[in-house]
Amino acid sequence: MDHAARLIPQALPLPARPAEAPVPQEERAPLIERIKRLMAEQDAVLVAHYYVSGDLQDLAEETGGIVSDSLEMARFGHRHPGRTLLVAGVRFMGETAKILNPEKRVLMPDLDAQCSLDLSCPEDDFSRFCDAHPDRTVVVYANTSAKVKARADWMVTSGIAVKVARHLHAQGEKLIWAPDRHLGHYVQQMSGADMLLWQGACVVHEAFKAQGVAVLKARHPDAAVLVHPESPRSVIALADVVGSTTRLIEAAKELPARTFIVATDNGIFHKMKQAAPGKTFVEAPSAGTGATCKSCAHCPWMAMNGLRQLAHVLETGENEIVVDPAVGARAKLAINRMLDFAARQDVAIAGHGNH
Ligand code: 13P
Ligand code: SF4
Repeated sequence: MDHAARLIPQALPLPARPAEAPVPQEERAPLIERIKRLMAEQDAVLVAHYYVSGDLQDLAEETGGIVSDSLEMARFGHRHPGRTLLVAGVRFMGETAKILNPEKRVLMPDLDAQCSLDLSCPEDDFSRFCDAHPDRTVVVYANTSAKVKARADWMVTSGIAVKVARHLHAQGEKLIWAPDRHLGHYVQQMSGADMLLWQGACVVHEAFKAQGVAVLKARHPDAAVLVHPESPRSVIALADVVGSTTRLIEAAKELPARTFIVATDNGIFHKMKQAAPGKTFVEAPSAGTGATCKSCAHCPWMAMNGLRQLAHVLETGENEIVVDPAVGARAKLAINRMLDFAARQDVAIAGHGNH
């Protein structure tokens, strides 16, 4: 098994199609009105990730949908009664929505909106890896295909990964973790669990540079550093707060700092600026001397989501997510383990708050 050698993120393909071109100002309002009308006619709700364009994020909120991290996207899509889920994000997010809601229609603006982590973990290689370690509990990150989730015992998102690993570790279980090696290392450090790590990485977060963050920090000594745990450990080591996209937005709001150095996709700035008006957000460097970044702090697949494509799929019914029902049923067990665990955590947190 040579997974460590073959999964070099810089060698992974980037999308063949470029990001959707910005909609000219005069076309924006009529286009948004058209989408709203189509959504109402089709009982559709928009579930968007923080990394997609501000236009899509605003539209999701204006129409009763949600903008969130992967965990809340999964929970919201499951709870909401709408018959059509429009998922603005990357493919695994659409697949998770379909797996949890097989009876609903799930449409995405672009079905080729992939994720380098998902691409770095082909199901056949991963299955062989799991077969070689039958004594280990298989925990996979949400950023994986339906087939990889179907091979797993648990699916987790960055918002809950450490808690699940601590829980499994306390039960004496040893883990396989895939696909993100940086998040895996972070979870291992935080939980103390015995984890075998798949060697995938995110093309966006892998590119952040500790040296560049340190230079920025010297320039802005009062700035707080916010880091998504898909980043390299040298960058995580400089963080004031490490967490999911939702956690980083909360930190921007809660911390007293007026300036933040942010190591995650810059699409998050739209919500951060709304959550913490008047504060300053600086992109952590991924370019400059010795740079290897191909995406430079913006996910090229997230950027494929746009208003025009959204209108097109509503008009044509194209880009429907299809998941093999048998694969979906198995993957759902792994996703539901996380959702049930998250619900128990919420109950525990609420209970704790009452005392
Ligand atoms: P979150 O679950 O923290 O939103 O992360 C998803 C992701 O793809 C980050 O790159
Ligand atoms: Fe995948 Fe990275 Fe894009 Fe997130 S930012 S969707 S992990 S490629």
